[in-house]
Amino acid sequence: MDIASVAFFLCNHPRAMKPEKPYIGVAYYPEAWPESEVASDIARMTDIGVNLVRMAEFAWSRMEPEEGTYDFAWLHRAVASAVEAGLAAVLCTPTATPPIWLSERHPDILRVNALGLQVGHGGRRHYCPNSAAYRAYSRKITALMGQEFAEVSGVVTWQIDNEFFEDCYCDQCEAAFHVWLKARFCTIERLNQAWNTVLWSQAYQRFDQIPLPNPHRVGASHHPSLVRAYRHFLSDSYASYCAEQVTVLRQYTPLPITTNAHWPVAHQLDYEALFKDLDFVSTDSYADPTALTRYAFESDWMRPLKNKPFWFMETASTCSGGTAAWAGNSFAHYPGSLRAKMWLMYSLGAESVCFWLWRGHWAGQEMEHGSLIYPWGEERINTGEVREVATELAQHGSWLMSTFPKPADVAVHYTVSMQWIFDNGSIAGGFRYDPAITQFHQVLAENGIARDMISPGHSVEEYKVVCSPFLAALDCSLIARMQQFVENGGIWVLGPLSACRTPEGTAHQDAAYGAEFEEWLGIHVRHRLLASDKQRLTDKLGEYPCGWWCDTYELRGEGEVVARYAGAPIDGLPAIVERRIGRGRVILLGTLPADEWLGQLLRSLASTPEVTATPGVIVTSRVHPDGTGAGWIAVNTSNVDGSVRSVDGSDITLPPFGVLISSKGKDQAGRSSG
Ligand code: GAL
Repeated sequence: MDIASVAFFLCNHPRAMKPEKPYIGVAYYPEAWPESEVASDIARMTDIGVNLVRMAEFAWSRMEPEEGTYDFAWLHRAVASAVEAGLAAVLCTPTATPPIWLSERHPDILRVNALGLQVGHGGRRHYCPNSAAYRAYSRKITALMGQEFAEVSGVVTWQIDNEFFEDCYCDQCEAAFHVWLKARFCTIERLNQAWNTVLWSQAYQRFDQIPLPNPHRVGASHHPSLVRAYRHFLSDSYASYCAEQVTVLRQYTPLPITTNAHWPVAHQLDYEALFKDLDFVSTDSYADPTALTRYAFESDWMRPLKNKPFWFMETASTCSGGTAAWAGNSFAHYPGSLRAKMWLMYSLGAESVCFWLWRGHWAGQEMEHGSLIYPWGEERINTGEVREVATELAQHGSWLMSTFPKPADVAVHYTVSMQWIFDNGSIAGGFRYDPAITQFHQVLAENGIARDMISPGHSVEEYKVVCSPFLAALDCSLIARMQQFVENGGIWVLGPLSACRTPEGTAHQDAAYGAEFEEWLGIHVRHRLLASDKQRLTDKLGEYPCGWWCDTYELRGEGEVVARYAGAPIDGLPAIVERRIGRGRVILLGTLPADEWLGQLLRSLASTPEVTATPGVIVTSRVHPDGTGAGWIAVNTSNVDGSVRSVDGSDITLPPFGVLISSKGKDQAGRSSG
C-alpha cells in the first residue's frame, strides 16, 4: 500500500461509522434473557469499557414467530437501551437460523449433507444457499429489518447472515452447478477436454450428467477438477446469496454493510469475491493465546482486501470452543495475552475487536464458551484486561484512528482457492495450504518485515517484493501483471509449489510451469520430486533442511544458482535460482527452505524496519496520512521475555505478552508499556 492509499484508507470511511476511538464490541443475545435484565447488562458493558454491541444474527424466530407475524419491538428496545447508554449498535440479518415454521413449510430450503440426509431443525446453518424459496424468504426478512431500523440512530453498521459455509448436495445445488459449469465451459466437449475425462471413462455427454462430488458417493476418488469446480461453485453460491441481501438492504440504509466471515481456511470461500459488494471486511478468529501471530495473519489479509479499516467481528476473551471449552487454550491461563491480542489487532489496522460473547449462555449450545461475564453476571477472571485496554484506548484511541500501519513493501499472494487445488490435487502428500501459508507469514512477521497478504486480483505496483508461495495456479491475467511488475523493477519470489497447475487444477502438458511461462522465466524445470529427509539444501554457508517438494531448475541464459540440492537422486542440481528480467528480478524457490534461510532471504529483500525486535515480538510502525512516522506499537506474542531495539540502539525489555505503545503526534512523542 502506498501513501496515497493511506490517505484513502483514512478518509474512505463512511462518516456515520467512524468512531472517535476503536471499538471494543460484544455479541449480545437480548432475546435469550429476561427483558428486565437488558438495561443492567448494557450498564455493565459501558462500565467495562465496551462501546459496541452486535445483535440479532440468530433471532429470526423471535422476530417472526409465525409466518407473517412480526415482533421487532423487543429489538427496538434493546437497541434504544444500548444507544442511550452511548453504545454503537450492529444489526445482523438473522438468516443463519431459519425458524421451524419455515423448515416445516418448505423442506426444500434445507441442506442435504454428504450422507445424502436432509439436515433438520435444531442447529444452525441448515439452509441451502441455492434454494429459490429460501432466497425469497431471506430477501423478505432482510427488507423488513431494513425498513424497521432504517431510521434508528446509533446503528452504525449491518452484518449479513453469519459465517457463510457448509456444503450442500441437494437437487437444487446440482441443477445450479450444471448451470455454473455450462457458463464456464459453454460446451460439454470443452469440459471433457479441459479435465481429460477420457481417463477412467469419465467423459460426459451432457452437463446434467455431472455429479456433485459427494465424498460418500464415489468409487475410489472424485476427479480433482470436479471437486475444485464444486468448491468454486459453492463459494460463488454464498457470494451471490450474500449480494442479494446487500441489494435489498441498500434500498433502506446508507450504512456500511459487512458479513462476519470465518477463518478463511475453515470455510473455503473466496473472500475476494464475497467481499466485493460489501463495504468493509470483517472476520472472526479464535486462535489460542499460544498462536497470537494468527491474528496478525488475519489482519494482514483483511487490511489490503478493501484498503479500509477492518473488524474482528468475533474473538474469544477467555476460551473458545463450539460445544465445550477446549482444555488448555484459554486466554485466562496466560495473563496479559488478551490485552496483547487486542493491541496486536488494533496496531495492524483493526477498527473493532468484538468478543463472542458478552454473557455466557445459560442453556443450549456453547454454554462454556468464554465471555466477558458469566451467565449469572459476575466478571470472568481476565475481563479486567478488557477494562485496561478500554482505558488505554481513551489515551491512544484518537491517535490510532488518525494514523495507519506503515504501508508494507512486501506482499504475499494468499487465496483460499489454492486450498481447493491442494486438497484435491494429488500434490505433496500431507501438504495443507493453510498451515503452510501461515508459517510463511510467520517468518515475515518474526523477521520484523511489514507485510500484506494480498489476493491475486490485488494490484502489485505499490510493493517492492511480491512473494507467491504455494500459488499452484496462476491465470493469464496474473502472469501478465506479475511480468509487468518484474520488468518495471519489482522482485518476485515465486514458489515453492507454485505455477505447477492450470486454473482448472490440471498439470501443464508442455512443461512443468507451462512452456511459455518457463521461457519468460528463463528456466526449465527438469525434475519434480517429493522432498524427503534424503535431500538437503546447500549454499555457500551451509546445509539446511528443505521441505515439501523439490523442483530442479536448468537456467536458460544468464542467472545465478543461489542454492543446490544435496542428496540422491538430485545431488548438485539447482534448487533456488535468481534471474534478472527487465529492471527487476525473479527468485525461484524449487523447495521450501528452512525458516532461518527463508527469513534471511526475505530480510535481504525488504526495507530495514524502523525498530527491530526479538522473535515473537511484532512491531508495527504507524504513519500519519502524509506518510510521516507516527510511532509504533510492539506486542510480545510469546510467553517469554522479548525486547525491542529502537533507532538509538537502546534495548527495551517486553515481559511475556507485554505491549509497548510509542505514539507520536505530529509534534510530540508518548510512550506507555506493560
Ligand atoms: C463462531 C460463531 C459464533 C459462535 C462462536 C463460538 O464461529 O460465529 O456464533 O458459535 O463461533 O465458537
